[in-house]
Amino acid sequence: MSEGIRVAILGATGAVGKELIQLLEERSFPISQLKLLASPRSAGQEISFRGDSLKVETVSAEAFQEVDLVLASAGGSTSKEWARTIVDAGAVMVDNSSAFRMAENVPLVVPEINPQAAAQHQGIIANPNCTTILMGLAVYPLHQVQPIQRLIVATYQSASGAGAKAMAEVKKQAQAILNDETPTTEAFPYPLAFNVFPHNSPLTEQGYCQEEMKMVKETRKIFGSPDIRISATCVRVPVLRAHSEAINLEFAEPFPVGKAKAILQDAPGVEVREDWENNYFPMPNEATGQDEVFVGRIRQDISHPCGLELWLSGDQIRKGAALNAVQIAELLVKENLLQGTQSTVSV
Ligand code: A2P
Repeated sequence: MSEGIRVAILGATGAVGKELIQLLEERSFPISQLKLLASPRSAGQEISFRGDSLKVETVSAEAFQEVDLVLASAGGSTSKEWARTIVDAGAVMVDNSSAFRMAENVPLVVPEINPQAAAQHQGIIANPNCTTILMGLAVYPLHQVQPIQRLIVATYQSASGAGAKAMAEVKKQAQAILNDETPTTEAFPYPLAFNVFPHNSPLTEQGYCQEEMKMVKETRKIFGSPDIRISATCVRVPVLRAHSEAINLEFAEPFPVGKAKAILQDAPGVEVREDWENNYFPMPNEATGQDEVFVGRIRQDISHPCGLELWLSGDQIRKGAALNAVQIAELLVKENLLQGTQSTVSV
């Protein structure tokens, strides 16, 4: 590690943190120094990066000195706790948590959709919610051709969205059930193995949970379209790490299916996967570990002349989190946007 960017990963031992490390290596991100930070529980743990064995350090103010870029994925409260220290130290923080996503002067970026927003950063750039990123890739290319008036989405979200512990918990629960034992729960409120339940994020007064409202508000912010009407139902399913979504779109005019399919076939980050003869469409097990969001079942809504239906599966840890963050980092390098900026964001 010589020429390049001095990077720290906050939350390096988590599901997303580990993927970040792998992606930085895979994509040959220009790194001169990599610090792996986590809670004191993980201090001293060794993780390999480009043939070196790096020791995980406990997060501290000193750890952010002489760092250019922090990729944070240790939860909202940890991001809030360290954001001021990070930007005061002159580093730019790409934050995977929801802590700053809706803050006015924090760009919320999906590089395939609104790369230009990154240039407005004042020290912090937010990585959107996983379901929002996956949906955005599939519907923004259509929105550009004909603005979406109304969007209804139902999600089928894997355990990985709740972190590495939740993924381990589902496997343990499945094993317990197969052994005729009672499954235990810790990361989730209910057993997820052999079960589904509405997303367990806190409920808002309107009857939507926070995860659902993230899809509404974040999509509007990323698209720069405050008027799109969006309604979401988010559901946990016993899949390990890729999310799926059923999406209904309503336009002002009919949107021919063939045209939508052709647009999506050319869309960045999207792979159209459909074989109607064999009833073959995107599935989370095939999306796992892949960079692209798989989209299929693109069809006319029989209940509305200006409606389209589609289905997608995308890797929650990869494009839904770590890959998008690394792409933001690549954008910052390419556009020379990493110079220490004095943040006016209230952190
Ligand atoms: P640790 O492994 O030491 O607990 P996941 O989302 O997969 O559960 O991962 C969460 C990541 O955030 C882990 O790397 C975890 O570290 C880290 N983390 C959680 N709480 C803190 C904290 N208070 N300070 C620093 N890192 C934290």
